[in-house]
Amino acid sequence: MSRTERRWAVVPAAGRGERFGGRIPKQHTLLLGRPMLSWALQALLAEKSIDGVMVAVSARDRRWYGLPEAGHARVGCCIGGATRSESVALALQALAPLAGGHDWILVHDAARPCLARSDLKRLLTGIRADAVGGILAQPASDTLKREDDEGRCAETLPREGVWRALTPQAFRYGLLLRALRICLDRERAVTDEASAVEALGLRPRLIRGRSDNIKVTSREDRQLAEAILQARTDR
Ligand code: CTP
Ligand code: MG
Repeated sequence: MSRTERRWAVVPAAGRGERFGGRIPKQHTLLLGRPMLSWALQALLAEKSIDGVMVAVSARDRRWYGLPEAGHARVGCCIGGATRSESVALALQALAPLAGGHDWILVHDAARPCLARSDLKRLLTGIRADAVGGILAQPASDTLKREDDEGRCAETLPREGVWRALTPQAFRYGLLLRALRICLDRERAVTDEASAVEALGLRPRLIRGRSDNIKVTSREDRQLAEAILQARTDR
């Protein structure tokens, strides 16, 4: 396949994992004996059409340099920021000498170690001819409740057309950098790339992904992630 634009992945991995807790930072927690961050990177590196991966790590992170992926030819690293979106913006800045404005950037959380190769392929196919870009997402399947200030169900929200945003999220380098910079300048907190792009009035494509592409947030997610990885035949 001939491509005029290149593809890069950005992995924000500079979080503190406060909800997860523990002595070892969340992204370095072992799942089936392998650090969570390694699992996340493995899924991206298996896709040979990705030209390089920029990982944003904390300045205090000494473990990163011990990971085999840190020495991989297609992997680079930079220091992350105080929030996820700052870490992503710093990784984009670090890619500036390499990436063109039209190149695709796939942002994938280090805290999502169960990305299937088939999902990555589906995302790349889904965005190919898209002017805006797109994200892996899952239609909401639970009944949704809004709580009142006593922790009771105040309201049942309509579920139709509601999706959960996953990663990777893919946008053109120039567009994504502009969108994130505007949000950061205006101190507008965004928890994913799509919301920054939406703030420009654009509508990213929703590409249905697998429900087992979970984000490890709290301690109880760890066992689930291990069970998902254990069941993978392509790991
Ligand atoms: N992240 C980052 N830089 C930050 C904060 C988060 O690169 N300043 C990354 C995390 O390392 C993670 C991803 O963004 O891979 C998603 O964030 P989350 O799951 O919230 O992880 P943490 O921020 O580490 O966890 P918590 O919010 O519980 O502290
Ligand atoms: Mg966080």
